[in-house]
Amino acid sequence: MTSSNAKTILAIESSCDETAVAIVQDGRHVLCNIINSQAKLHEKYGGVVPEAAAREHISAINACLDEALLEAKMSINEVDAFAGTLGPGLVGSLLIGANTAKTLSVITGKPFLGINHLYAHVASNYLDSDLEPPFLCLLVSGGHTQLIHVKSYTEMKIIGETLDDAVGEAYDKVARIMGLPYPGGPNMDKLAQTGNPKAYTLPKATTKKPFDFSFSGLKTASQRTFETAIAENPDNAEQIKADMAASFQHTVVTTLFKKTKACADELGIKTMAIAGGVSANKGLRAHFQDFVENNPEYRLFIPKMSYCTDNAAMVGASAFFNPITEDIKQEVFSRA
Ligand code: KG4
Ligand code: ZN
Repeated sequence: MTSSNAKTILAIESSCDETAVAIVQDGRHVLCNIINSQAKLHEKYGGVVPEAAAREHISAINACLDEALLEAKMSINEVDAFAGTLGPGLVGSLLIGANTAKTLSVITGKPFLGINHLYAHVASNYLDSDLEPPFLCLLVSGGHTQLIHVKSYTEMKIIGETLDDAVGEAYDKVARIMGLPYPGGPNMDKLAQTGNPKAYTLPKATTKKPFDFSFSGLKTASQRTFETAIAENPDNAEQIKADMAASFQHTVVTTLFKKTKACADELGIKTMAIAGGVSANKGLRAHFQDFVENNPEYRLFIPKMSYCTDNAAMVGASAFFNPITEDIKQEVFSRA
């Protein structure tokens, strides 16, 4: 097994609108997982404002570090390595977390490990679990929708991905069309619990390659269906919204499941995992869980809710199992 020699890793995540610090032992054992969400700040704009996000990371990072060390009852000198997300993400936001981790590494003389955000989402499944590769991971976030064949801790192959919108992005856009507050995904999920998933028939895109995805047609069809329903029955807006959320969720979840299962079967893999912000979706989790309960020859791993959306514990896991050591003597503050 490939792994870092560093047993105790302090990890920082700041790729978007969460300032997060975690301390993780042996890639699986989380000593603390501090997350400072900026959702309130961006709510009034209906989405993340990159400038504001970067400034908020600067004001939050030191307090998050202090809280992490306090909760883990550790001093900075007991940490074996410092990890930070290098990308993909918002450049101004990434800089804050990555350079904080690099600075700590310089001060203490311990290694800096630069982490890919997508690998970190995959690695969130190692936290508090006994999952080992090989497995198939469905990565569903605000920026990505991918089926990843995780062959080993360090070797991953993308089997399929979205040709247009990511699932989280589609959730957020449809939520906005229906006038739901930011962040759209969780609000759609909540609303979907109260609606009828069969109320509206929405299109399932076919793709040339069987394991690719496409969600932009679904987004447009949802908008058209919603606007027509509201125009026909303006007094019934609340029920229409709930039914739309449920129908949209049903379409997304069945598509994601069908392709993941078919891909696993084609690869001859019986272990499936889900990762990324949308893995917090109740409908998606329930659909996969139901399947595995009825088909016990398959194994399913889904991260705990606090490891689904952006967090630093997953960065600590990735840093242990898939470390990329940067030469911190060069370009210490210029890269991120
Ligand atoms: O992984 P993440 O925190 O950030 C990215 O790397 O993109 O994912 C954020 C995405 C957003 O689009 C958000 O709306 C979506 O995940 N999301 C959800 C749920 N919780 C977060 N989508 C559907 N249902 C949820 N419960
Ligand atoms: Zn993410």
